[in-house]
Amino acid sequence: MAAPTPLAVHADPDPSFAELIAGRPHLAMDARDGLMVEEVPLARIAAVVGTPAWVYSAGSLRRRARALNGALSGAGLDASVHFAMKANDNLAVLALLHREGLGVDVVSEGELRLARAAHIPASRIVFSGVGKTDRELRLALAEDILQINAESAEEIAMISALATSLGRVARVALRVNPDVDAKTHAKITTGRAENKFGVPIDAALALYARMAAAPGIEAVGIATHIGSQITAGMAAYRAAYARLAEMVHAIRAAGLPILRVDCGGGLGIPYRDELAPLPDALAGAIKTTLGGLGLPVMLEPGRWIAGPAGLLLASVIIEKKGARRFVIADAAMNDLARPAMYEAWHGIVPVSPIAYHAPLSPADVVGPVCETGDTFARGRDLPALPAGEMIAFLDAGAYGATMSSTYNARPLAPEVLVDGARFAVVRDRQSYAALAHGQRVPDWIGT
Ligand code: LLP
Repeated sequence: MAAPTPLAVHADPDPSFAELIAGRPHLAMDARDGLMVEEVPLARIAAVVGTPAWVYSAGSLRRRARALNGALSGAGLDASVHFAMKANDNLAVLALLHREGLGVDVVSEGELRLARAAHIPASRIVFSGVGKTDRELRLALAEDILQINAESAEEIAMISALATSLGRVARVALRVNPDVDAKTHAKITTGRAENKFGVPIDAALALYARMAAAPGIEAVGIATHIGSQITAGMAAYRAAYARLAEMVHAIRAAGLPILRVDCGGGLGIPYRDELAPLPDALAGAIKTTLGGLGLPVMLEPGRWIAGPAGLLLASVIIEKKGARRFVIADAAMNDLARPAMYEAWHGIVPVSPIAYHAPLSPADVVGPVCETGDTFARGRDLPALPAGEMIAFLDAGAYGATMSSTYNARPLAPEVLVDGARFAVVRDRQSYAALAHGQRVPDWIGT
């Protein structure tokens, strides 16, 4: 058994179910059909795919993609958005976002292959990440993707050698670590000098010059990403982008080429009642710092686009009452890892209309995995939830399914996409046979 993970303690009362639903336009509580995603009752989805299941709202994904694009063009920016598909790599979600004009930001061969399987053209793919393998870089070069974000002198040398040997020219941006504090959870902050990401800002210009001179490389720009779930306002963004702007001036003063600036992702969302900045604020921060350079900008948001658009639907296995009240769900930390990993708060709303209106009392919501850390919420006000009642974990559209595992030999949950009154199962539940697939017991073990 692992040590218990302390979940964040909040002094103020949690938002009510009605407040949680009101803040998420794709959700509604119907007096007869219960909790709905767009026009589809969750109970209908559960009848088809069972629980646990991930449910995404196409309408919400579209609205959010449009809001972000609208904020950027409204600020007069020449901007392109590359969805960070580590947040959600479902092919249907990627295809939908691509139809909204988004490209993708990938961080592995697997993501690159999934993006291509979703018919995202190579010209809309950026490859980020602190450690890309030889094989991954070869594939990126063979596919001739839009841009590779390099994170070290060593990686630049590696890309140069590979591109030259393959007779290709790699378009490379240099990821700069601006050493600013994004004031987010320590596990997801990336722009401090002590973090592993990017090259130190002081060394960046010299490295950029070396990169621009390297055979097989076209130096196309600079990139940064300072962290994720940033809700503390725009100060950290502005500080980071101001440093990038200074660097663009220095690059130009040195007579070196630069075509674009990649501003990364990180825009936070309100999971509980956080005052999260809106895309307009981010667009404004980009405009004031980088807007005068006459360069196109790129963004790599993940969470802001997909997080609020998804939920994890679960059923109650059993309610266990004693000194504490435990609601034991059929979803667990292997499905939604964020509470166990980051003490993250996710709204939990009952699905049936009767439970929705019933009196509340505090409960700990847990999964069946054999770890105390398998706790979604502590002391959460919930109605009586007898076995079979369903609950929805909100804002699970980003870093939900992509972070799930088969721990405790629990098959990966299916994914469902709702669009108005229709829905499609966009990923089947993993079979039990798949859990053993590819495994073998050598003869010399015997049976
Ligand atoms: N670009 C790069 C280079 C990144 O590393 C990330 C996220 C993003 C873009 C997208 O960041 P976003 O817009 O989604 O904040 N598993 C954690 C989040 C880890 C984020 C890692 N990098 C969570 O569940 O909170």
